[in-house]
Amino acid sequence: MASIDLLSMHKLFLSNHIKPGGTVIDFTMGNGHDTAWLAEAVGENGHVYAFDIQPDAVAHTRRRLENADLIDRCTLILDSHENVCKYVSAPICAGVFNLGYLPGGDRTKTTQRASTAAAVNAALSLLEADGIILVAVYPGHTEGTLEGKMLDEMLSGLDRRIFSVSKLRIINSPTSPFFFAIEKH
Ligand SMILES: C[S@@+](CC[C@H](N)C(=O)[O-])C[C@H]1O[C@@H](n2cnc3c(N)ncnc32)[C@H](O)[C@@H]1O
Repeated sequence: MASIDLLSMHKLFLSNHIKPGGTVIDFTMGNGHDTAWLAEAVGENGHVYAFDIQPDAVAHTRRRLENADLIDRCTLILDSHENVCKYVSAPICAGVFNLGYLPGGDRTKTTQRASTAAAVNAALSLLEADGIILVAVYPGHTEGTLEGKMLDEMLSGLDRRIFSVSKLRIINSPTSPFFFAIEKH
């Protein structure tokens, strides 16, 4: 029996909100898999802003996008995602956070509660009506568990007249990744 594939659910949520020609943000570019997917989704008239604090992540993502001929619709930014409002003022139809550290990379360069909270709040301030913010959490390490708890508290308090917040989690596998989907009405 096939089990739920969280990654394809993640894309399904995003696909329902991303408009061709829209502006989106990848808040954790890593090796650029999500950045490339988002660049395809917005089409040639759309734009993707992508953030990471590691120069290698920016270099790997740039190469991936150049090879796929998607670089012209992307802006890659070497800075912490909490500073997003210094670079982006346009309303966004989607924002993606894939928290944690790069698999196989430097585990000390993991996302942290304080900057994650600031970046998610900034993302919500940029979100247009009918837009979505997706936050994938990896509770298999200590900071990931704490980020999940922090987000649970923070997102539970959002005004339900403005946002619907869902959490998709396999509840009998507590260390498996899960995600929050914040949809703006
Ligand atoms: C799980 S990886 C992202 C994987 C990526 N989405 C992909 O498709 O390959 C998490 C990334 O977040 C980055 N990161 C950590 N703290 C950050 C911060 N404050 N601002 C932006 N990126 C950060 C890490 O350097 C790492 O590359």
